[in-house]
Amino acid sequence: MPFLPWSAEMVIDEGPIDGQHQQLVTSINDLYDQIDAGEAKVGAILDYLVIYVDIHFADEERLMQLSGYPDLDTHRDEHRLFTAQLDALSAAFHRGEAKVDQKLMEFLKAWLINHIMGTDRDYAPILKAWRAKTQITVADLVIEGL
Ligand SMILES: [Fe+2]
Repeated sequence: MPFLPWSAEMVIDEGPIDGQHQQLVTSINDLYDQIDAGEAKVGAILDYLVIYVDIHFADEERLMQLSGYPDLDTHRDEHRLFTAQLDALSAAFHRGEAKVDQKLMEFLKAWLINHIMGTDRDYAPILKAWRAKTQITVADLVIEGL
């Protein structure tokens, strides 16, 4: 059983958002699996996670904007807060002032689960309705990182 198992309850759009969320889940599991692998390896996975979170949030916010999601500002604030926390953690790790430990992993896991199953789920019906109305397919959407 992975540290953070993917579950059907995490499905949002049956499309690119799920693909990116799965990538985030994979990265968090990689980080957990390599927790004792040394600074270089842990640092590299952490760097990847920081960059991928930025890519994912930008794509998600663009889709919410296109589909007319009304609570975009609140959702964006949640993204900004997490990005700031993750950036600070990563910077502290690289300065040798913080380590990736069980407590940090539990924080990442809880944040992602709560965000996907809570805040993200809220925009899912609006995104689906917009796709149905516009007949926009996944291939029409330019998604960075995919
Ligand atoms: Fe989100």
